[in-house]
Amino acid sequence: MDDIEPPADLPQHFARPANEQEAAWSELWDQGRTPWDRGIPSPALVDLLAARNDLFNPVNSDGSRKKAFVPGCGSGYDPVLLALHGYDAYGLDVSEKAIATAKQYAESQLRTPSEGNFPLSGQKPSVSPGKVEFICGDFFSKDWGEHKFDLIYDYTFLCAILPAKRRDWTKRMSELLKPGGLLVCLEFPLWRDPRDPGPPWGLRGVYWELLARGGDGSPREYGDEEPPPAENAEFKRLLRVKPERSHKIGRGMDMISVWQKV
Ligand SMILES: C[S@@+](CC[C@H](N)C(=O)[O-])C[C@H]1O[C@@H](n2cnc3c(N)ncnc32)[C@H](O)[C@@H]1O
Repeated sequence: MDDIEPPADLPQHFARPANEQEAAWSELWDQGRTPWDRGIPSPALVDLLAARNDLFNPVNSDGSRKKAFVPGCGSGYDPVLLALHGYDAYGLDVSEKAIATAKQYAESQLRTPSEGNFPLSGQKPSVSPGKVEFICGDFFSKDWGEHKFDLIYDYTFLCAILPAKRRDWTKRMSELLKPGGLLVCLEFPLWRDPRDPGPPWGLRGVYWELLARGGDGSPREYGDEEPPPAENAEFKRLLRVKPERSHKIGRGMDMISVWQKV
C-alpha cells in the first residue's frame, strides 16, 4: 500500500496516557489495521547502503559481522534488508503479531529476496547475508536484554511515539549504539505540521534539536541556517541528503541523515 495520506483517525486512537501507547499499537496489529505498512523495504536506505560502502561496511576488521538494529520494525522489511546487505540484523517491536509477521516475511525473503532489497541497478552486495532475529519488547525498557549495535535505523519509529518521549528516544539510541556507531534516520514526515496531533507526529525541525542540540525535540524552524551543535552533543551528523527514491507518503520531502555516536 502506498497512500500519501495517513489515516485521519489514528491520532484519536492514540489519545491515551503515555503508559497505554504500546498497548494501542498492539491493538491495531491484532485488529489487522496497519495503514503505515508500505509492503517494501525503504528505497532510500537501499540506495544509501549501495552508494556509501565507506560508511556501511557490514564486516569488522576481524571478519565478524556488524550488528544492525531496527526499533519499531513492524513487518520486518528493514531488518531483512540490512541482513541481505551483510549485517547481523535485529528487529524489535512491541506487538507479538508484528513479530510473528516479520519472522514469516524474513523466512521467505532470506530464501528468495525480492528486487526491492537492492538498488535499481540490480547490483548485489559483495558480502553474503547475515542473520536476522526478531525480538518482542518495548524499546524504552531494558527487559529485552543489554545490546550494543553498530548501526540503528529509524523509519517511522520516532514519528510514532509521543513528543514527550523524544528525549528518552535519544537516550536509548545512545545506550544502544557502540561508540562510533551510526544512527540512520529516514526523516519523515517533514510535510506534516509539527503542531498537529499524531501519529505520525510531524518531525520538521526535530532531529537537529534532539541529536545535535541535546534538546527535548520541540520543533524549531531555522530557515536555512541551523544553530551550532551543542558542545557536549552525543551525536555528530555525518550527512543529510534528499534521497532520490523514498516512499510515496514522504511526498518528495523525506531526508535521510546519518549520525555518529561520539
Ligand atoms: C508506524 S509503525 C512503523 C513500522 C515499520 N517501521 C514500518 O515502516 O512499517 C510503528 C511501529 O512501532 C511499534 N512500536 C511502537 N511503540 C513501540 C515501542 N515502545 N517499542 C517497540 N516497538 C514499538 C509499533 O507496534 C509499530 O509496529
